[in-house]
Amino acid sequence: MCGIVGAIAQRPVTEILLEGLRRLEYRGYDSAGVAVLSAENAIQRTRALGKVAALSEKLAAEPIIGMTGIAHTRWATHGEPAERNAHPHMSKDRVAIVHNGIIENHEALRQELIAEGFVFESETDTEVIAHLIEHNRAKGLGLEDAVRATVDHLGGAYALAVVSNDEPDTLIVARHGSPLVLGLGLGENFIGSDVQALLPVTSRFIYLENGDFALVKRDSITIFDANNEQVEREVKESTAGMCSASLGEYRHFMHKEIFEQPQSVQLTLEGRLGNDEFIPCIIGDNVQETLARVEEIQIIACGTSYHAGLIAKYWLEEMTDLPCNVEVASEYRYRRTPKRNKVLFLTLSQSGETADTLAALDKVQTEKSMLATMTICNVAESSLIRESDFSLMTIAGPEIGVASTKAFTTQLVALQIFIGLLLQAKGNHPEKVKYLVNHLKQLPLLLEQVLDKDAAIETMSEAFIEKHNALFLGRGAQYPVAMEGALKLKEISYIHAEAYPAGELKHGPLALVDNEMPIIAVAPNTPLLEKLKSNLEEVRSRGGVLYIFADEEVSIREDEHIHTITIPKVPEILAPIVYTIPLQLLSYYTAVLKGTDVDKPRNLAKSVTVE
Ligand code: F6R
Repeated sequence: MCGIVGAIAQRPVTEILLEGLRRLEYRGYDSAGVAVLSAENAIQRTRALGKVAALSEKLAAEPIIGMTGIAHTRWATHGEPAERNAHPHMSKDRVAIVHNGIIENHEALRQELIAEGFVFESETDTEVIAHLIEHNRAKGLGLEDAVRATVDHLGGAYALAVVSNDEPDTLIVARHGSPLVLGLGLGENFIGSDVQALLPVTSRFIYLENGDFALVKRDSITIFDANNEQVEREVKESTAGMCSASLGEYRHFMHKEIFEQPQSVQLTLEGRLGNDEFIPCIIGDNVQETLARVEEIQIIACGTSYHAGLIAKYWLEEMTDLPCNVEVASEYRYRRTPKRNKVLFLTLSQSGETADTLAALDKVQTEKSMLATMTICNVAESSLIRESDFSLMTIAGPEIGVASTKAFTTQLVALQIFIGLLLQAKGNHPEKVKYLVNHLKQLPLLLEQVLDKDAAIETMSEAFIEKHNALFLGRGAQYPVAMEGALKLKEISYIHAEAYPAGELKHGPLALVDNEMPIIAVAPNTPLLEKLKSNLEEVRSRGGVLYIFADEEVSIREDEHIHTITIPKVPEILAPIVYTIPLQLLSYYTAVLKGTDVDKPRNLAKSVTVE
């Protein structure tokens, strides 16, 4: 979380920094700020509470001009969202820094610095870094050595950038845990939390590795690794292209991204399907031999991506007979886990930068405890793709709405492709591979058809705006679909929502049911449908009001408290993907009617790069 951008150029940098911040706003939008060195080498700083637009307005009213600067958009961890807590943080008007990550030993450092006479203006962990650099400088160290001595004392994860009026022609950066890229220009260089921030100014990038420390000047970049050895890092040409950040006819990116799903699924399938088989080389060289040796799958992810993993468990165990475990990364990374050398470790992530997921990958790589690692991810240049043995890209395109939609459905598609490749590598079930290929080919059209229910779902959402709670129900692979529906509703409409496997209701949650509690159920025509219908009757007979998304060929009892929207008939294997769409739309319209900030819901950020 938090976004960093910096520039050292032969032209004024403030507008470059602001554009970078706009592109990084998905990482956090509690407050933003810039610090730019003036022609006289004074640090000029402007900060604003709220989104980057607020900072832009301030800068339009009182411009700051200079050719070296750093900027930041914040997702608060230590200290409330407030201007005094916004970055850049400064020490004695001589050093300004921006930071992404968490300094775990900040409290002890703060006490030491207070004892040395430093005065703190913020409650952030970041401010200790600025004062510690200044403290080291005051002891007689040059800027570079002062920053080095400082990072040696920092515990936790960070990416940071430093400017100082002592050395106006250098930006100093360091990476430990949180991602940081350098963008290469002609006679100018840039830094950013990710390439998106810098695409308007360059397409050539260096990805810093953990422990790297770099001196960035207008015409040179010098990088040192964790052992302080000077190193050359590969320069990569980005294929990310300019992200299509225009809303077109849509009011919100989330709405646009929901409607893009037939196309993003089509793109994720393209080049991966043969006539009756999947094309293996898409994952990496020699993948067939590795997959042939897999005897178990361990899926690790967070949030919506975790829900994709839970659905995949149903599919994997049904189709391949191989056991599959799914766990959230924040738990897995800190647990003692046995060595299992026949297990494929599979991470799922839209951004490829989620701190907990990366840490879980790092854990199994350090322990050498798995057969191989693979990621399903939406960002080609991401850390997860770079650090995994194999990767399968989802081709969802940039997802800008904070609530994940098209990234989730394309993950599910990629997971089916993965299952097909696993079956192929094992070589014993060609009929199942053919079944998957043929059904996946129908999916884009089915998604178009379910999107036609848009208006009916918008009307249904009116019933939710006054509600404070909601229950989502599903059975089988539809249970994680219900979990995802509940997550979407809570994150963008702020209505408390929980999901249960419908068979669990009578073991406790039924006590919550009354006529104030809306119950949303997903009811495709699967072998568990009759069981689900009995569970819904249990709810109805206790006064619960039902909102059901049901297969058009299924008969559901009607009364004034049972509201049904029919969904075109879908094959069982595709039901979780298709039935996700109406739940996304229901949350979207409820949030719009409630007037929340749909694309940037409160307290959240798109890329969770702190643990
Ligand atoms: C919810 C959402 C989050 C992410 C989670 C993991 O709509 O988007 O729950 O799914 O933060 O992010 P990635 O997939 O980037 O690892």
